[in-house]
Amino acid sequence: MWLEPALDIYVTAMDYPRGTEIHRAALWRDHISRPGWRAVGAVATVSPAEVRSPDWVRRRLSRPLAVADNEVLVGIAYGYRGARDQWWNQQLRIGLRQSGQPAAQVDEITRDYFELTELHVHPSAQGRGIGQWLLGRLLTGRTERSVLLSTPEIPAENNRAWSLYRRLGFVDVLRHFTFTGDPRPFAFLGRPLPLVPDDPGRR
Ligand SMILES: CC(C)(COP(=O)(O)OP(=O)(O)OC[C@H]1O[C@@H](n2cnc3c(N)ncnc32)[C@H](O)[C@@H]1OP(=O)(O)O)[C@@H](O)C(=O)NCCC(=O)NCCS
Repeated sequence: MWLEPALDIYVTAMDYPRGTEIHRAALWRDHISRPGWRAVGAVATVSPAEVRSPDWVRRRLSRPLAVADNEVLVGIAYGYRGARDQWWNQQLRIGLRQSGQPAAQVDEITRDYFELTELHVHPSAQGRGIGQWLLGRLLTGRTERSVLLSTPEIPAENNRAWSLYRRLGFVDVLRHFTFTGDPRPFAFLGRPLPLVPDDPGRR
């Protein structure tokens, strides 16, 4: 029920071409069955007129997920427990080895972590702390030792994703890595869990 609105936020927030969500839907569905999967959404109430406008209608939530008829999804975050049989884990391990990390260190980094797979806030709702709230809620109570994520490299780390991750204490795990099949450079960032002492999930 939330998948279509969430994919709309993803495509809009990342400024990907329309249609990208069709390919992503199968992958996101597959992720739902992974051990330790958890998702958090942020919902806004809009006016009855707004909810019928083309921009909002794609993100409208239906009952029983929504408690009223004029609720739209504005943000989404999900992830799951990392494991060696996952493509992302394998890519990270390859990258760490290529960067000269010893095998024992690679094992240590990738042994017990939560993968932050997706975090997106619709542009109309960005800059109000929703991304931080989503991340805090997603990570609250996790049993893994750390959280790891990958994000596109941006000159001078100058976007909202980077400033959020740095503000919450994420540090470099691996920089300028290119995933198989994607020429863009990515950074892997991580931090220990829990998110204390200032855990935004508790606000
Ligand atoms: C990255 C992203 C999820 C961050 O979400 P966000 O809601 O925009 O960002 P934050 O939660 O960090 O919001 C912080 C801003 O809210 C403000 N704010 C207001 N109330 C706040 C509160 N209670 N707590 C924290 N920040 C608050 C801060 O001052 C800050 O403003 P600034 O960015 O102008 O400095 C979002 O910008 C996004 O979807 N970007 C595009 C997609 C993307 O890059 N995703 C990540 C890919 S890895």
